[in-house]
Amino acid sequence: MRPLKRRVRIQTIDYTQGDAFQAEKRTVFSQGWLPLCAEGQIGKPGDFLAQSIGGWSVLGVRDQAGAVRVLRNACRHQNMPVTAQPSGNCQNFRCRFHGWTYDLQGKFLSAPPPVEPADKTPGIHDLAVLPMRQMAGLVFFAIEGASSGFFPPDSGQPWSGTIVTDIACNWKVCMEHLLGGQGTSEPEFAWFWPLLVVRRSGPVVLVEQVVPHTFLRTKLFTHVFGGAVEAQKFSAESTKAACEHEQKERADGTPARGSALVAQFHQRLAEAYAGSS
Ligand code: FES
Repeated sequence: MRPLKRRVRIQTIDYTQGDAFQAEKRTVFSQGWLPLCAEGQIGKPGDFLAQSIGGWSVLGVRDQAGAVRVLRNACRHQNMPVTAQPSGNCQNFRCRFHGWTYDLQGKFLSAPPPVEPADKTPGIHDLAVLPMRQMAGLVFFAIEGASSGFFPPDSGQPWSGTIVTDIACNWKVCMEHLLGGQGTSEPEFAWFWPLLVVRRSGPVVLVEQVVPHTFLRTKLFTHVFGGAVEAQKFSAESTKAACEHEQKERADGTPARGSALVAQFHQRLAEAYAGSS
């Protein structure tokens, strides 16, 4: 993989600028483990899920033997996304631009004669494989080879499904909304920097995964463990409406509503920004 570019120092929390999001790509999202999806979203051999998370284009895939991998979704021919589909099932990946083809482990298989690579050295044209962990029914990846991290405990419940909600807001607005109003001593609630919130209500465990897509577009994955997915749809829609309202407030200069957890989140942001140089 190419070496990462030098990080850019960020001075303040910004909710509305693409430049700030690009800086966070390296200060926040290239550090530590990030959630990609629920294992169940790529449950069968050949299943894949592609996401742009914090500016990093990645591809989670389950190979024919059942093993999960996370690959960079960047073709080794001209660095374009190998697949533009958000999810699906396939035998191999054929890049839509000029036809370079890779197997489900990311190994280069072939290319049409006009664009064949001259150098046939084995491995040099394979897709980059990222460090991956499977924890608590979720798939995590790391851009810079994170060695440690805090992961949610196993819920002990089976994955029931995932609700995907598109929200017109910055990822930080969504995290602040999920953290707002929660007390630090709430036993049924936990958050995991930078993108996860876990709630338990009786036997049902909800894992809310924030997916920073662009500086003004966020996806919310609501992973439901041990309960009916349908029952959670209203809550996901309410979160969308609230976050889009709060995004307008931030754009007008209204700060996030205070809570101990929002303060913790801002502290982690400040540490990440300060770690840039
Ligand atoms: S960019 Fe993928 S084959 Fe050319």
